[in-house]
Amino acid sequence: MRGKFITLEGMDGAGKSTHIPDIIKLLENKGVEVVSTREPGGTALGEQLRALLLNEPMHPETETLLMFAARREHIAQIIEPALARGAWVLSDRFTDATYAYQSGGRGVLANKVIELEAWVQGGLQPDLTLLFDVPVEVSVARLASARTPDKFERESADFFTKIRNAYLDRALNNPNRFCIINSNQTLEDVKVEVKNVISSL
Ligand code: TYD
Repeated sequence: MRGKFITLEGMDGAGKSTHIPDIIKLLENKGVEVVSTREPGGTALGEQLRALLLNEPMHPETETLLMFAARREHIAQIIEPALARGAWVLSDRFTDATYAYQSGGRGVLANKVIELEAWVQGGLQPDLTLLFDVPVEVSVARLASARTPDKFERESADFFTKIRNAYLDRALNNPNRFCIINSNQTLEDVKVEVKNVISSL
């Protein structure tokens, strides 16, 4: 039986990465093989593209094309083979991030992203997307006290407002796939919310 494809999304500073080890455990407790991966990245080539994407200034459409180039490799090498053998794939970000950051944040036309999505993914879509949502001020404050920021993390509050709105819009338009996690509460409370969602799968 084909595995399930779960993606994690949210603004920088929303805290999604903190929950990955717990989510892996919860899924493994169901007795399934879990492949945990991330975007941009997930393959040797993808990680090289990630280093460029997170550090080098470039045209927003170049950024979009490189995100999808890394994604094409990720799907071919990791995601599809895992799902086909029945493993569940947990990806720290996927195409919703391109809609949020490159289209919402940088202003790349959504139609161009739609075309690339159809080309690169065919019919592949996540079965479930957890969107870790926090107010922009919270995300910006968390980033200010974090490690050395990358290219995206150095962006303004105005940029993050666009990202958050784009994500919430994606969730509104894909209600069957998205589950919004309120990350503006104690870590313990967020963990309970995450656990409830994964248990109900
Ligand atoms: P992130 O997932 O936050 O990793 P870390 O926790 O190590 O910083 O960093 C990836 C960055 O890439 C993040 O700022 C969002 C950005 N990104 C895009 O702009 N578009 C995309 O399509 C993807 C997958 C990521």
